Amino acid sequence: KNDNYILAIETSCDETAAAIVKNGSEIIANVVASQIDSHKRFGGVVPEIASRHHVEQMTVVLEEAFAQAKMTWDEIDCIAVTEGPGLVGALLIGVNTAKALAFAKQKPLVGVHHIAGHIYANRFEKEFTFPLLALVVSGGHTELILMKEHGSFEVIGETRDDAAGEAYDKVARMLDLPYPGGPQIDRLASVGKESIPFPRAWLEEDSYDFSFSGLKSSVINTIHNAKQRDQTLKKEDIAASFQASVVEVLTEKTYKAANQFAVKQVIVAGGVAANSGLREAIQRRFADTGIPVSIPPLKLCTDNAAMIAAAGTVFYQQGRRAGWDLNANPSLLL
Ligand code: KG4
Ligand code: ZN
Repeated sequence: KNDNYILAIETSCDETAAAIVKNGSEIIANVVASQIDSHKRFGGVVPEIASRHHVEQMTVVLEEAFAQAKMTWDEIDCIAVTEGPGLVGALLIGVNTAKALAFAKQKPLVGVHHIAGHIYANRFEKEFTFPLLALVVSGGHTELILMKEHGSFEVIGETRDDAAGEAYDKVARMLDLPYPGGPQIDRLASVGKESIPFPRAWLEEDSYDFSFSGLKSSVINTIHNAKQRDQTLKKEDIAASFQASVVEVLTEKTYKAANQFAVKQVIVAGGVAANSGLREAIQRRFADTGIPVSIPPLKLCTDNAAMIAAAGTVFYQQGRRAGWDLNANPSLLL
């Protein structure tokens, strides 16, 4: 048999997800149970609540994946699971479920780094051409990653403080917008004016690192000063000005790195890749360069298990296997 079918499980944060993917590039089933409503009233993800939901939803989501795929266990070649990074209590549910299933059904088991998953969400769009540059922007990560071949990841830049998504969520909270704030700011920014000159953190000339804490402080100070002077700033304009700063730095650093490393493809991944301003700016910046840019469709940008299956397929084909000692690793390195 030439085709392979990978079942993947993802529980690193607040989505309980299972998926079945054919040959690493075709989605057969993709089920995501979101917990956003349970965490919303706390203004962010509460780890213990996340774990409890994963326990409740895991089997339901797996059943639904098999129902969507109209497949049986006999046809599954391998089980892939997110082993880290993420919330340890949340990861443990997925890892232990995957181990129990691999043991009971006698299937090979593969551990997947969450960010490798985000990157491979692009495999459903386009075959990779190397060298490839990935801009990964999520709630927990902001990284520029150079890939010279499948399964190899070289981090050339990363955030020194907040992740891009974290900055979005924090600024949203300052504006009294509900969690998760990224999509809310995105929506407001599209109708606001870029009227406030927030700083851009370029850092050292030759650095591909990022920093968003200065920008965050600048937004706090601007809101605070306006209040003291009884000025009213429109939320839409704060959102538009904040987003302009984030998007410009992300886009320019990606552009510079793509040229320096002479990459043949640029991909954008992670929850913030759903941002309409970023999607447009990156596409526009690379439009005349001949370097193709790929960004997953919105529902594959945020956490899902199809992306874990796509990365898992590559590892499976490379012969990597997890042992029965596989464990959740909240600070796993790529
Ligand atoms: O990848 P993801 O689902 O989870 C992590 O691995 O962190 O990313 C979630 C992050 C959140 O911070 C959320 O606010 C942000 O992605 N996000 C967005 C948008 N959609 C989701 N940020 C900006 N604009 C969006 N449209
Ligand atoms: Zn993620």
